[in-house]
Amino acid sequence: MNHTELEALLQDMSLREKIGQVFQISGQLLAEDSAAMGPMQEMGVTQEDLSLAGTVLGICGAEKICKIQKEYMERHPHHIPLIFMLDVINGYRTVYPIPLAQGASFLPELSGKCAQMAAREAAAAGLHVTFSPMTDLVRDARWGRVMESTGEDVYLNSQFAKAMTEGYQGNDLAGEETLGACVKHFAGYGAPEAGRDYNTVQLTERTFREYYLPAYQAAVDAGVALVMTSFNTVNDIPATVNKQLMRGILRDEMGFDGVLISDFGAIGETIAHGLSSDRADAAKRALEAGVDIDMMSGVYPEQLEQLIRGGKVREELLDEAVMRILELKNRLGLFENPFKGADPEKEHAVILCEEHRALAREAAERSFVLLKNENDFLPLKKEEKIALIGPYVSRKQLLGGWSFLGDSGDTVTVEEAARALMPEWNVTFAKGCTVLDPGTKLVGFGEYREEAYTEEEQSRLWREACDAAREADKVVLFLGEHFLQTGEATSRGILELPQIQQKLLREITAVNPNTAVVLFTGRPLDLRLVRKHAKAVLEAWMPGTEGGTALIRTLTGACEPTGRLPMSFPYCVGQVPVHYDEFPTGRPYHAPDENRFLSKYLDIPNQPLYPFGYGIGYTTFSVSPVCLDREEMTRDGCITAKVTVRNTGDRPGTDVIQLYLHDVAASVVRPVKQLKGWQRITLEPGEEAEAVFRIREDMLRFYTADGTWDSEPGVFEVIIGESSASENKKSFLLV
Ligand code: BGC
Repeated sequence: MNHTELEALLQDMSLREKIGQVFQISGQLLAEDSAAMGPMQEMGVTQEDLSLAGTVLGICGAEKICKIQKEYMERHPHHIPLIFMLDVINGYRTVYPIPLAQGASFLPELSGKCAQMAAREAAAAGLHVTFSPMTDLVRDARWGRVMESTGEDVYLNSQFAKAMTEGYQGNDLAGEETLGACVKHFAGYGAPEAGRDYNTVQLTERTFREYYLPAYQAAVDAGVALVMTSFNTVNDIPATVNKQLMRGILRDEMGFDGVLISDFGAIGETIAHGLSSDRADAAKRALEAGVDIDMMSGVYPEQLEQLIRGGKVREELLDEAVMRILELKNRLGLFENPFKGADPEKEHAVILCEEHRALAREAAERSFVLLKNENDFLPLKKEEKIALIGPYVSRKQLLGGWSFLGDSGDTVTVEEAARALMPEWNVTFAKGCTVLDPGTKLVGFGEYREEAYTEEEQSRLWREACDAAREADKVVLFLGEHFLQTGEATSRGILELPQIQQKLLREITAVNPNTAVVLFTGRPLDLRLVRKHAKAVLEAWMPGTEGGTALIRTLTGACEPTGRLPMSFPYCVGQVPVHYDEFPTGRPYHAPDENRFLSKYLDIPNQPLYPFGYGIGYTTFSVSPVCLDREEMTRDGCITAKVTVRNTGDRPGTDVIQLYLHDVAASVVRPVKQLKGWQRITLEPGEEAEAVFRIREDMLRFYTADGTWDSEPGVFEVIIGESSASENKKSFLLV
């Protein structure tokens, strides 16, 4: 349709029909799941609302969607198609590593491919839009949703936001293998106070703009089709009804002209926030703020008609929202083909196909971060007798908390992979203990009964594990968080492994100190105990469908871990939030200074246990001092910075060389360093190569004291190294 036809359609629609378009309902209702109807009735949603709703959430499957679409369109007065939306986060049925793990790859292009493959499966299954990417900047490991982000760094996040958006959307939203992307959660959702989900967000204007907005902007610049509002307040006003944020910043300043959707129930929640006085007020405020779709609070269908007929809300505001939704339907090609890519045969063929599994394997391999490897403990050697022990050895649930469609039955476990890939090795397996402590209650998740053992059974597991450890040359312990401990509404105040696993770690390493630990987590944990007892530590995150295979390949040296931490791993929870790009203080502390009045703790170091950007491989590298081609740079000039990287070990390997910049004195205090680029360098033993970075003036810009986005003349430090902890630097002057 062209714009005039869309306008004509809009003009012809009744008020009720238009209100239908701005309301999103649960797919269960359309699939005639009566269990879902109760809560909707409580929200005041009627059968008429259902028959006019514009978009659907949470349903998939080509056959089911085609049937619903067909019946719905036949009944609809203007035969307007529905948009089917769902959270396709780290994959559809083939599950890739969680987004935080993808961030660790430092390979946005690889995440772009994962997004593309996820879109291919999801589109064949009838979906049109995914609620991804989540680009919220995260610095607080207590927040369970850090697993959904690509990490703590503004530049890294922006690169991933762009790549994922482009991956989902391809060149043509109407294509049969693409999805519309929805960047979320706008804005600042990743900074809830004390890491408690849905909690207040307080950020200064500068921090908000400089750190939190750029990744959403990167998605907007990449043409993202939708934006989702966040649950939190921004400057004391819930984002969902924050007109200044949505119309002023998102639309006017950032240039977003797509569809703005609320988060789940978020419009109604502005009453509990203490902002909207009632549901009518909430509907008015949200529409005035420019929220086009009400996801599941039922406030729009319940209130808008009366508000508009009573002259309290202008109908043009509704028309504006409906037009944006019709335009999206048009961009998705739904007026021409309401079934888009839905195709039961193709769905069957592409889901979990070898190409997608291979990509899942590659993405998992690239996401692993080796944190410690004493005396080349890893990779394991064929002549060694190996015991693979722990609750994650034969665990299928390696998918993370957001895999609605992922079926853990499809996952290759560590044990299955070892049996397949290590046929001639001498390997034993033992579980040792459960993931969670017996009797653990995860509030809101019901009683934990997944692995209930009697005391006798538990002692048998323990004995078997100790026996296996005793008889082995080397042990690898597979430990981690429960997947229900990560994701939405999973904030944690204790960032340690469950007690029972800590005990297993202590006892196994007492029996056999030649032990490595592989960690399955959705967040940075306090790893002091693990670092103390294990000879090697590999962070494997929640690696997805092919996690087991990727791990065995990595542990046996068929591939090398090249991931780098996308979030600092705190020394302990008392340091949180901790991030590398902190501001300098007037009293900086450098251990072992004995001065009392410095910015430090009495009992723990300032530095995280493992910093952002950190990760080692199976070989070692040296990085030469930084060399700059000039000492001064003009605003229209550029400086070339170089280091020589040498593989000093005896295996081929890949290093991720990172460029950080620091503005030494400016009109506002600048972070101690900020990531501005990185390069992967692959070298044979003894080989060397240069990592070359070009520094331009636009890389030096920030929000100056007068609020402009600009650079200021003065001294800048160029830091190039293997992590954010590098002090390998050289200065130049911007004139
Ligand atoms: C989450 C969103 C998600 C939505 C729909 C909400 O609870 O915050 O990230 O997209 O549910 O599933």
